Amino acid sequence: MFSKDQFIDDCRLALDEGQAAVREVVASAVGNPDEIVKELGTPENAGIDLLHRSSDLTVINFIWSPYMTLLPHNHNMAAVIGLYNGREDNIFWKTTDQGLEAAGADSLSTGQVASLGHNIIHSVANPLGKFSAAIHVYSGDFFEPDEPRSEWDHETLQQRPWDVEATRTAFREAEARFNAVNT
Ligand SMILES: [Fe+2]
Repeated sequence: MFSKDQFIDDCRLALDEGQAAVREVVASAVGNPDEIVKELGTPENAGIDLLHRSSDLTVINFIWSPYMTLLPHNHNMAAVIGLYNGREDNIFWKTTDQGLEAAGADSLSTGQVASLGHNIIHSVANPLGKFSAAIHVYSGDFFEPDEPRSEWDHETLQQRPWDVEATRTAFREAEARFNAVNT
């Protein structure tokens, strides 16, 4: 079974051992995705569902609206992503003298895990016509990182300060757009 409280305790213990240990905890959890749904509920509203927040550990249940994309952003902290429903397509980016440039990709299916280093820049898309859901574990306070976070405009790829409220709005608007053509 999956217990939110136990999972957070396990992440906290793993944090002391390092990123690989956190990855193992997340992989073990999403290996039984139905158990996570039993505990957290069926994903049916897009958003950033905070499960735990402290100065050195943040655990978030990300619910991606159908067909939504989130612009390139960094975290300035290590992260582990574990999919327990649907699919999450990640594009990884690098900064160059000319600006931002795509550098790689990883498409995560239910049960799969990605381990992201401190300096990773990624954008995320849910290519499915249903909600996708993932547990993201950050090695720090996601909402108040020690180093200011950035995001990059989807079209121009211009860098600007990360805006958490704009991020929340992106989830709400994506769901509203989906509902507008499916209700
Ligand atoms: Fe991210």
